[in-house]
Amino acid sequence: MEKKSGFLVAFEGIDGSGKSTLSRLVFNALIARSIPVILTKEPGGTPAGQRIRTIVHEDVLTPQAEFLLFAADRSEHIHNVIMPALQDGKIVLSDRMADSSRAYQGYGRGIDLHLIDKVTHWVMQGIEPDLIVYCKIDAETAFKRIVQRKQELTLFEKEKTTFFERVIEGFEKIFSGKSQVLVVDATLPAEVLCAQVIAELCHRWESNV
Ligand code: TYD
Repeated sequence: MEKKSGFLVAFEGIDGSGKSTLSRLVFNALIARSIPVILTKEPGGTPAGQRIRTIVHEDVLTPQAEFLLFAADRSEHIHNVIMPALQDGKIVLSDRMADSSRAYQGYGRGIDLHLIDKVTHWVMQGIEPDLIVYCKIDAETAFKRIVQRKQELTLFEKEKTTFFERVIEGFEKIFSGKSQVLVVDATLPAEVLCAQVIAELCHRWESNV
């Protein structure tokens, strides 16, 4: 593994948890402080990943094919976006990373978690988030937000509440007792959450360098 010198932050949570809004606010706040930062996402952080994103949003796939597409997207993302930015010493903010596969494909779809971990470690080449921001919200509130957006729903967003309850249970299990996780109450205003994330990030980033 090549030595990294930047700082990687993953934003995780179910659809409608507000991670994308939050990660953009954090990005803008860091830019305003002249801190070197990039904002990226999974799936879709690379040109190939954009095409994969369309497939996983629109095609009904086997759970296996779905997981392997997310893993392929992640491999391209780690190699072409994350590693170069970390090596440049940047803060990298990623809207979702590997814990989404553990929660959605593992707990949501029932794919063996050991298999997910094995493939994930392989594609991530030793990279792990330095901080994970878990946007915690209940399935009902998140779904109300998705409907309010009035955009066409993706196949994931059309899943039943029971699916999202399994995904939430997954996130809770994956993150319990993990020191690099900041759990935020995603029902609070995004500006409040942004201040919490910036405080935690700056504290960890300063003790990292
Ligand atoms: P996207 O429109 O980017 O949703 P969001 O803004 O909520 O991230 O679509 C990504 C979808 O893919 C989302 O429903 C979660 C799902 N997903 C997985 O199931 N596994 C994964 O590993 C990743 C990265 C995403």
